[in-house]
Amino acid sequence: LLYRMISFILLLCRFFTIAICVTDQYVLDDKVGLGRVFDGIGGLSGGGATSRLLVNYAEPYRSQILDYLFKPNFGASLHILKVEIGGDAQTTDGTEPSHMHYENDENFFRGYEWWLMKEAKKRNPNITLIGLPWAFPGWVGHGKNWPYDYPDITATYVVSWIIGAKQYHDLDINYVGIWNERNFDSKYIKLLRYTLDKSGLESVRIIASDNLWEPISLFMLLDQELRRAVDVIGAHYPGTTTVLEALKTQKKLWSSEDYSTFNNEVGGGCWARILNQNYVNGLMTATISWNLVASYYGELPFGRDGLMTAQEPWSGSYVVESPIWISAHTTQFTQPGWTYLQTVGHLAHGGSYVALTNGKGDLTVVIETMVYTQRTHDHSVCVRPPLPAFNVTSQNTTFQLKGSFASLAQLQVWRSRFNFKTQKPTFFEKLSPLKLSDGSFTLNLGEDEVYTLTSLTSGLKGSFPDPPPSAPFPTTYKDDFNVANPPFTEAPDFADQTGVFEYHINLTDPGPHVFTLRQVVTQRPVTWATDADQTISVIGNYKWENLTVSCDVFMETVKTGGVFIAARVDKGGQSVRNAKGLFYWIFSDGSYKVTNDLAGQAVLAEGPSGTRAFGWHTLTLSIKGQYATGLLNGYPLWKNAVVLGPKNGWAAIGTKSFELAQFDNFAVKAE
Ligand SMILES: *[C@@H]1O[C@H](CO)[C@@H](O)[C@H](O)[C@H]1NC(C)=O
Ligand SMILES: *[C@@H]1O[C@H](CO)[C@@H](O)[C@H](O)[C@H]1NC(C)=O
Ligand SMILES: *[C@@H]1O[C@H](CO)[C@@H](O)[C@H](O)[C@H]1NC(C)=O
Ligand SMILES: *[C@@H]1O[C@H](CO)[C@@H](O)[C@H](O)[C@H]1NC(C)=O
Ligand SMILES: *[C@@H]1O[C@H](CO)[C@@H](O)[C@H](O)[C@H]1NC(C)=O
Repeated sequence: LLYRMISFILLLCRFFTIAICVTDQYVLDDKVGLGRVFDGIGGLSGGGATSRLLVNYAEPYRSQILDYLFKPNFGASLHILKVEIGGDAQTTDGTEPSHMHYENDENFFRGYEWWLMKEAKKRNPNITLIGLPWAFPGWVGHGKNWPYDYPDITATYVVSWIIGAKQYHDLDINYVGIWNERNFDSKYIKLLRYTLDKSGLESVRIIASDNLWEPISLFMLLDQELRRAVDVIGAHYPGTTTVLEALKTQKKLWSSEDYSTFNNEVGGGCWARILNQNYVNGLMTATISWNLVASYYGELPFGRDGLMTAQEPWSGSYVVESPIWISAHTTQFTQPGWTYLQTVGHLAHGGSYVALTNGKGDLTVVIETMVYTQRTHDHSVCVRPPLPAFNVTSQNTTFQLKGSFASLAQLQVWRSRFNFKTQKPTFFEKLSPLKLSDGSFTLNLGEDEVYTLTSLTSGLKGSFPDPPPSAPFPTTYKDDFNVANPPFTEAPDFADQTGVFEYHINLTDPGPHVFTLRQVVTQRPVTWATDADQTISVIGNYKWENLTVSCDVFMETVKTGGVFIAARVDKGGQSVRNAKGLFYWIFSDGSYKVTNDLAGQAVLAEGPSGTRAFGWHTLTLSIKGQYATGLLNGYPLWKNAVVLGPKNGWAAIGTKSFELAQFDNFAVKAE
């Protein structure tokens, strides 16, 4: 009866301003029934190449960053790590290598996702691991830009990645997806289930379709076999809501990619709001941030859209941004397998609360009062989708604990205050415990605050001494790629934007080019973004204007091959096709070209060079102000090419097409 009365008063309070409403009442009770099982909060590495620069951090900084992300009771303490299954293609901020560049090829040591999963697992043995392809090597599609014409080949390819994870890295992949934000094919999904089962991977669960709630939900309702095959409906950027068809499937609902917002305080506010409201509004039991850590050149698309920033391996500088501590509010006081209470919801004057229990009497309540749109200021806007405006005002709330929690005598309190007005936020502060009287407590909530109230006494705001200060990419840089046992397959700081550039050893080389860097993708992949027709890897400082780039190059395609070195390259990621800059090419047909674009259309100079395949040549490119000059093997080949724009950009290497070619003794001297 009391519960009904409180609910009634609450209802009245929503519509009338009456004296009794100086404090709003909320009941937290497990005896009225429980909600859904919680599956965790996570981060996504990949989609694409978003952890590229992390691997090149020196210790102890690299381990510190990993601790902030994954160590339980320390920082974001993530429950889930989702990674891209590399497909040799551009997937937003770069390409990630496939474990099978060619049909008869298998190598489970490429890239950095294996390493990252192991580092995460080392810190949290219970972490949930997910793999999802964005793109596939060209042979999977038999030359077509489509992975479902040969669904058995695609399924076998994806399952081989899961088998390799176990065999070579002792990693158990818990979930696998279909094709990121692209069409699904019911036949393929069923075949994937069948192939997993046949391989003894019955425990690996399928997420579909990493796109919108529809049409996958509807297809599942109409197709029993599909419904059995899919364990989780994963939607991207759901804006905290779901649809009736998805609910009707009775499957787990996840926001399997979300956030994607610049990681300043507004980004932290977005993260706080969606972590709560994805459940309150949409019954989603997991939320995964794209991306895990902003470890890619900041001028690539969606710069700094990670839970923290680590984009300067050359200086060791990194920044623990607010989303790390906002994650901690939930992650440090819950675990996958806890259950939401049914008594969760919106606060009367804006904001939301969720409550979770481990079923053993422990209770964690997370409250957020993030303002979304209040006239002139947005405090929790996410980049997408657009949301209707709402107001949040300060409010007094009384929570009444019932059921298993009625006898709790005190709760630990953790608080974040964004303080947008003073711009002096405080994150994840531990306050004195709250004493409960008759199972009830009152909180005065201001705008833009996050509270955790929990019966758990664990929890820590982890810290390390300050990392080194931020510094630009060094102006003098050299790499001879002479690493006999490289820890990673890619050379430090090179960020592949089309194609894959890997360390290569040629033991039959009689001279100085035993160790080189080689472009290895020989067929256009089944792409996700619009990869260029050329391959390209960028490096350095985007602000570079005046510099000399040099590199030894080795073409492996007779007559039709070509390679380039470049400066002032202004675009990468999804826009790489439209990259401009100063590109110096030589071709195996004995000619050279200087172009203002990667596509090779805007020709500034051209002529004979005498260059050929299977011989080493040294290219040198100098650019100062509007003028550029090129040397071949130390002798002038062309000079005073006029470059009106772009004014600045990265240095780069690459090839004319998807072809094998090698690079050695790369060097930059910038002013
Ligand atoms: C992992 O899960 C087990 C079983 O739930 C639990 O006992 C253990 O404490 C967890 N370990 C960590 C590091 O969270
Ligand atoms: C928010 O409050 C302002 C000022 O009181 C008001 O003009 C506006 O309509 C409110 N917006 C919403 C969505 O309630
Ligand atoms: C909250 O309660 C305090 C007294 O404890 C009162 O001064 C204040 O006005 C109340 N705030 C709101 C928004 O009702
Ligand atoms: C290895 O080096 C030899 C000698 O320079 C060269 O002929 C051959 O093409 C190279 N092969 C590869 C795969 O690099
Ligand atoms: C690059 O060189 C040009 C021509 O000398 C000069 O005007 C410009 O200031 C230089 N830029 C930088 C960043 O040094």
